[in-house]
Amino acid sequence: MIQVTFEDGFQDQAHALSEKLGLPLLQDPQGVQYGLRVAAGGLEIVDLHKKQRPVRVDFHQLNAERSGGDLTKAVNTRVHKTVLDATGGLGRDAFTLARAGCKVTVLEKNPIIHALLEDGLQRAQDLEAVQRMTLIHADSMQALRNHQPEVVYLDPMYPARKKDALPKLEMQVFHALLGAEQNEQELLQVALEQARKRVVVKRPIHAPVIQPASLQFKGKTTRFDVYLK
Ligand SMILES: C[S@@+](CC[C@H](N)C(=O)[O-])C[C@H]1O[C@@H](n2cnc3c(N)ncnc32)[C@H](O)[C@@H]1O
Repeated sequence: MIQVTFEDGFQDQAHALSEKLGLPLLQDPQGVQYGLRVAAGGLEIVDLHKKQRPVRVDFHQLNAERSGGDLTKAVNTRVHKTVLDATGGLGRDAFTLARAGCKVTVLEKNPIIHALLEDGLQRAQDLEAVQRMTLIHADSMQALRNHQPEVVYLDPMYPARKKDALPKLEMQVFHALLGAEQNEQELLQVALEQARKRVVVKRPIHAPVIQPASLQFKGKTTRFDVYLK
């Protein structure tokens, strides 16, 4: 489903990456949907058969956009300065929290997503917010037990709806690589044991709560459920 490819001049890095992740180097795109491509602009996922914008972590672009809103309110970044993001993904939410002044430990269990995020962080070390982010390749179900942050943040994968039949490449890739999360209830329990102040869970606006929340912050498409300790 996904194999390593490279732009001219990046063969050695691609070789090393394919060994590290145990993914084949692409020879023939027939029957392979995605490429994990080592390119001048950074590591990216490309659709090998359709023209679509590649998926890449770009904190400089994010830094130029306004974001935050309900997420920073739900975490209460004015008061809470240590956050553990237990479902790192492509690091957008973690970056938003770091930009609001929090030290953010980011856990990501999927090796491909972790590689994209690691690459994005390396290319953006000049940003102050990125310097407040620490990435760990681990499954939060176990690794969370080594941390006691003020806030644990969770954004588990949620099944795509029929209505969202043509999602962006990013969502297609996430669903292809990860599927929907099976363990969100257990993850919330561990998060509640480890957080000192609160746990914040991001959900699609239509999704049921995992368990009744203390507070909710609702946007147009997304909701943040807050569990106070
Ligand atoms: C919906 S994405 C998160 C997106 C992220 N909030 C962002 O802003 O880019 C969910 C991510 O959580 C990761 N994940 C799910 N369960 C995990 C676990 N137990 N430990 C670590 N990462 C996990 C998945 O691999 C996936 O990359």
